[in-house]
Amino acid sequence: INNSSICTRLTVSPSSSQFFEYDFVSLSCEEDDSSAGWTLRRNTSKRQRTQCGDGWGEGAGSSCNINVFQSDSGVYWCESREEGPISNMVNLTVTGGSVILQSPVLPVMEGDDVTLLCKTETTPSNLPAAFYKDGSLIRKQPTGHMTIQHVSRSDEGLYKCDISGHGESPSSWITVTVCHLVVFCPYFTSTFIVVSLYQLRAKGNNLSLLDNLSLSI
Ligand SMILES: *[C@@H]1O[C@H](CO)[C@@H](O)[C@H](O)[C@H]1NC(C)=O
Ligand SMILES: *[C@@H]1O[C@H](CO)[C@@H](O)[C@H](O)[C@H]1NC(C)=O
Repeated sequence: INNSSICTRLTVSPSSSQFFEYDFVSLSCEEDDSSAGWTLRRNTSKRQRTQCGDGWGEGAGSSCNINVFQSDSGVYWCESREEGPISNMVNLTVTGGSVILQSPVLPVMEGDDVTLLCKTETTPSNLPAAFYKDGSLIRKQPTGHMTIQHVSRSDEGLYKCDISGHGESPSSWITVTVCHLVVFCPYFTSTFIVVSLYQLRAKGNNLSLLDNLSLSI
């Protein structure tokens, strides 16, 4: 059993869940062993399960570069060639408007500080901005930055911002997690147990014990 062949995570650069049209976005499936052959796929409102290079993006190995348009908004993930395990999923939103909220694209760890940035396409990012969570105003910030300290589960929700005279950003989810492994590598636990069994077997323990353990996985 090769642990790395069933664990990967999708990362987005620059790290944001919202973009302006014509922004350059780089997506990549990160893992220890790149030979496992991950493919980047997406669902948009128009087409489902298309892979990088099939009408969108330019790929090299398990990376994909896109000059984004509104129609590139959707859910992205990495999938193994065998159509088996998949990575974390990421929602990307591309706006035709002039304001975006830069929020973490990956789930944030409970206890971390999270900084949100409200920015316009044309002006420096230090304009005053208002931040909303689940439709309600939570803070007005003179510099367009808002930091949530020591995030907890109650900070999860749908966030957006607006800059007076420029408009409102799209909304994005902020997800809070206790452990990265659960999100990025759902098969880790059972893989670990299987590996442990092989180690037991290597040590020459009796096989009926191993069979009983296998049944309980
Ligand atoms: C993508 O679309 C397919 C086909 O409609 C659906 O089965 C799948 O659940 C979707 N995946 C995500 C991550 O939304
Ligand atoms: C993506 O967006 C949909 C709806 O906007 C939401 O239900 C889902 O939880 C989001 N997924 C992630 C991974 O943020």
